[in-house]
Amino acid sequence: MHTKVRIGIIGGGLMGREVASALSRWFVLDNYPVHAELVAVCDLAEKQRKWFRQVPTVKLLTADYHELLASPDIDVVYVAVPHNLHESIYLDVLKAGKDLLAEKPFGIDLKAARTIAEAAKSYGRFVRCSSEFPFLPGAQRAYQIACENKLGNLLEVRSGFHHSSDLDPSKPANWKRRTKTCGEIGVMGDLGMHAVHIPFRLGWKPKRVYAQLQKIYHQRPDGNGGTVSCDTWDNAMLHTDVEIDGVEIPVRFEMKRLAPGETNTWFLEILGTDGGVKFSTKEPKTLWTFHRGKEQSWQRTDLGFHGPFPTITGGIFEPGFPDCFLQMWAAFLAERAGKLEGRFGCVTPEEAVESHQLFAAALQSVTKKLAISLD
Ligand SMILES: NC(=O)c1ccc[n+]([C@@H]2O[C@H](COP(=O)([O-])OP(=O)(O)OC[C@H]3O[C@@H](n4cnc5c(N)ncnc54)[C@H](O)[C@@H]3O)[C@@H](O)[C@H]2O)c1
Repeated sequence: MHTKVRIGIIGGGLMGREVASALSRWFVLDNYPVHAELVAVCDLAEKQRKWFRQVPTVKLLTADYHELLASPDIDVVYVAVPHNLHESIYLDVLKAGKDLLAEKPFGIDLKAARTIAEAAKSYGRFVRCSSEFPFLPGAQRAYQIACENKLGNLLEVRSGFHHSSDLDPSKPANWKRRTKTCGEIGVMGDLGMHAVHIPFRLGWKPKRVYAQLQKIYHQRPDGNGGTVSCDTWDNAMLHTDVEIDGVEIPVRFEMKRLAPGETNTWFLEILGTDGGVKFSTKEPKTLWTFHRGKEQSWQRTDLGFHGPFPTITGGIFEPGFPDCFLQMWAAFLAERAGKLEGRFGCVTPEEAVESHQLFAAALQSVTKKLAISLD
């Protein structure tokens, strides 16, 4: 017997529509214990709400999220709105007695993230934060290899997310380019959660950080014939020291909106003296592993379609963004139902707060031109 979970979305933009896509093909999950159904959507814009009319299970479309939260027919709410609205809307979701899958960065800054995490605890709700790329088969294999601890002496780790859609200076600014709506942390808030999820889950938490942050374009078209100032950080390189098995290892977190040629590249590289592993969404089915024998080699393995939650999709097919997004939702609802069974889970509120601690320290590092301790 499947438990049915009724889901509401607040913020039906880019990510809200991805959720509708994932939930609309829930039946591809094989032998999965929970049935998920999208029942309500809230967005301020009529154009966005209209799109959801084609989803047959949606019973409520509203411009007022309080109306959505007042509905007794919703169990879980997914919120994907600009960062300046995270804190107030997430708190209202929790007060309304709903569980929450919150989009990153989980509040506009550290203070907001702490407030949300404390509220999740005091209201006793199940809350997780969105980060989907670690659910790809290649990322999962890299995580497992790191857990096995057979790489010899660790040398270094690189974890990051690059894209380049902002390289075009004629691209109009949106809320993601302004501190007021995106946050002072800029690109770290946009892409940072994706970069820290696996290292943090491995227990690899930075002791200190030296940050290099860049603002490249200071103005952009406003879309109405004028220009608007863009004051968020575009690129971030966080050079951190992480203690792993008693030894300090350099771990670099890279987040870039201006990375020439990259459309949406999530990557993780872990190098040791005896072995290593690399995975990048640039080669979505390829896992690279390093072996040191008499000769040294990087071995390329074609992975199949094996996420943590089995699906009907053929085992030799390639996975992509919609697939890891569906897997993340499967992990969220399985954990909520107490059925994660040792599989990889979504970012916890504590991990989200720790990511903000890192980003806040990175801002200090840039101001002071110093490495900042996180102890
Ligand atoms: N997990 C990922 O891979 C990923 C990717 C992109 C964005 N995001 C995150 O998702 C969130 C939203 O980003 P997006 O790209 O979908 O933005 P978007 O601008 O495409 O969509 C945001 C939507 O929120 C609506 N909105 C604004 N205020 C509202 C309110 N008070 N009530 C109801 N609706 C409101 C807007 O009308 C808009 O449709 C952000 O937190 C962002 O960081 C996550």
